[in-house]
Amino acid sequence: MENAILAVTAARLGIFLGACAVVGLCVFLVCYSLTKRLKVTEVFADVKGTERTEGYARIGLISDLHFPMFEAGRERVVAALEKADVDAVMVAGDLCQNGRGVEQMLEFMRFLAAELRGKTVLVVTGNHDAHHVCGEKEEEIAEYCAKIEACGNNVHVLRNEVERVPVEGLGFDLVVCGFDDMTVSNAETQNELFERAAAETGENGRLVLLMHNPDIMANIKEAVEKSAVKSLTLAGHTHGGQIYMPFNLEFRLLRNDELPKKGYVYGLYDYCANNVLYITCGLGQSFLPIRLGTVPEVAVVNF
Ligand SMILES: [Fe+2]
Repeated sequence: MENAILAVTAARLGIFLGACAVVGLCVFLVCYSLTKRLKVTEVFADVKGTERTEGYARIGLISDLHFPMFEAGRERVVAALEKADVDAVMVAGDLCQNGRGVEQMLEFMRFLAAELRGKTVLVVTGNHDAHHVCGEKEEEIAEYCAKIEACGNNVHVLRNEVERVPVEGLGFDLVVCGFDDMTVSNAETQNELFERAAAETGENGRLVLLMHNPDIMANIKEAVEKSAVKSLTLAGHTHGGQIYMPFNLEFRLLRNDELPKKGYVYGLYDYCANNVLYITCGLGQSFLPIRLGTVPEVAVVNF
């Protein structure tokens, strides 16, 4: 009798565990399928108090490709940028997940540079590039960036550098200030760079602050607010909360990033006086090859 009860309990437990496994597998497959989707988001980034009489530059923003955990499809991503007729492409870091992804990433960058020849492609490093791939070693980061730049004459990696990009048909240039990742930079360098870029912007420039981790904005906020120059910040890093958790729990409990903890996770924000901030949810995945509540994105930011 006792054996029969045990056998029934074991059978029920087996059915329950089997059902859990099937449900878990289905949830995983649905979440995995989201990594293969691609959305194109178009936004108008107007800094308060700015009049756009000369029109907008169209910036194609991609970020967090995380090769080899990239499922969005390189042809689809590049076709989306071409179709959007962007004036320039900006890549906000985390091109690779780890050393294994480097060759695939370079192949993607060569393809992007060739298909968008004539357009400038500007790149900054993210924590995965500087820390996970290059171990924060300056020599390795320099070599990694040189490989990216070798993907095309139009590809430039901005390592705490400023580059002027003329916008065809409009009477202004984009002045792009590219920040090295926070893991290999500090607030003093970031403030000096911002001041230099603001000074170089001049009357016919529009200042774009390109960075991986939006937390750099917390370091330069005071300088941005005091500046006479209005700016657009383009960032990634958050993946838009790659796996949705309610109440912003991922960033409040599991991560140390300052701005995401305050709710700056995805989209367009009036971050502070003189600045508007766009955080993209990126293209690839880190940690787990799944997404929930967000899909890979190409952002077209009009500025
Ligand atoms: Fe990332």
